[in-house]
Amino acid sequence: MTLSMSFLMFFSILAFVPLCFSHNANGGYYLYPQFYEHSCPGAQEIVKSVVAKAVAKDARMAASLLRLHFHDCFVKGCDASVLLDSSGTIISEKRSNPNRDSLRGFEVIDEIKSAIEKECPHTVSCADIAAIAARDSTVLAGGPSWEVPLGRRDSRGASLSGSNNNIPAPNNTFQTILTKFKLQGLNIVDLVALSGSHTIGNARCTSFRQRLYNQSGNGQPDYSLDQSYATQLRTRCPRSGGDQNLFVLDFVTPTKFDNFYYKNILASKGLLSSDQVLLTKSEASMELVKKYAMNNELFLEQFAKSMVKMGNISPLTGSRGEIRNRCRTINKY
Ligand code: HEM
Ligand SMILES: *[C@@H]1O[C@H](CO)[C@@H](O)[C@H](O)[C@H]1NC(C)=O
Ligand SMILES: *[C@@H]1O[C@H](CO)[C@@H](O)[C@H](O)[C@H]1NC(C)=O
Repeated sequence: MTLSMSFLMFFSILAFVPLCFSHNANGGYYLYPQFYEHSCPGAQEIVKSVVAKAVAKDARMAASLLRLHFHDCFVKGCDASVLLDSSGTIISEKRSNPNRDSLRGFEVIDEIKSAIEKECPHTVSCADIAAIAARDSTVLAGGPSWEVPLGRRDSRGASLSGSNNNIPAPNNTFQTILTKFKLQGLNIVDLVALSGSHTIGNARCTSFRQRLYNQSGNGQPDYSLDQSYATQLRTRCPRSGGDQNLFVLDFVTPTKFDNFYYKNILASKGLLSSDQVLLTKSEASMELVKKYAMNNELFLEQFAKSMVKMGNISPLTGSRGEIRNRCRTINKY
């Protein structure tokens, strides 16, 4: 072997090292898609098959699992904190305003976890399972695919206040929502692309009632909502009662992951106030809404990129956190 060849080999090996072992800016390790390649090669297949079964039974489950990962990542990072039940010192995030009577999919995560524990005990984190399930759900609904960077570990705590404060509310102003995204390291492009998740799934009457009857406290509806659409919504979302009645977020293609979410917003038929403000309260986000409404491919491509970015919010890596035995409880020593 010539000297130059060995140099070349040395540097080409070196080039791969940072991918697996180097530290990121926060002193943790980088996530990477092959994390379980040797320790649990069947993990991704197990997630996929359990998610596929759950979505076949209930199409909405794809939306619910996607949202679950979002509500995990915005509170202390993507660390499965959202999956913990209350017990001992832990106050579950499940009872927060955004999650109570709303967040779903916990049983599906449990089923995935127990199937994976049988194949590779104490190896795959609940946080990674949630990230993979969100990707698989998107694909099953007809959306884009992406490689999920892995190696997250699970938290030993939850944050009810983090859940109440960090996750945007549907009646937050555009500025408040954008600020909440920026606090997570996400920008306006991520905000508009990730809001495209509302191309699938449901919302309860209580999440948008204010728009139908009393948007700004003067007894008037939200006129940025198409008024004949509003009339239709009022029939099943009365002034009082019916809080839990369900409505599709995208009335054109409610279970298909496509860009009708943006087309609906352009037609003043975004269901949530937080959807419609993307068009009406910022020039920059308006341009993005128009762009994604016009070009489905562009939306799907950006959605995948922004999902990877969201999945990278403050993961626990290395020896921080733990690999939970059950996703609902921290390990006992
Ligand atoms: C931009 C700020 C956001 C706000 C204010 C918001 C708010 C909401 C609300 C109020 C609901 C209905 C909940 C209910 O009534 O039960 C909902 C549903 C949903 N959200 Fe968001 N969301 C936002 C961003 C996101 C993001 C970033 C994702 C995912 C990456 C996401 C995914 C979903 C999905 C898939 C559903 C339907 C869930 C189901 O049917 O179970 N949302 N969102
Ligand atoms: C937003 O909705 C919450 C819950 O319904 C309500 O308490 C709050 O007053 C609303 N905020 C605004 C600014 O309308
Ligand atoms: C609208 O809301 C405001 C305060 O949020 C309240 O004072 C007012 O009575 C409400 N009006 C109607 C018609 O419900």
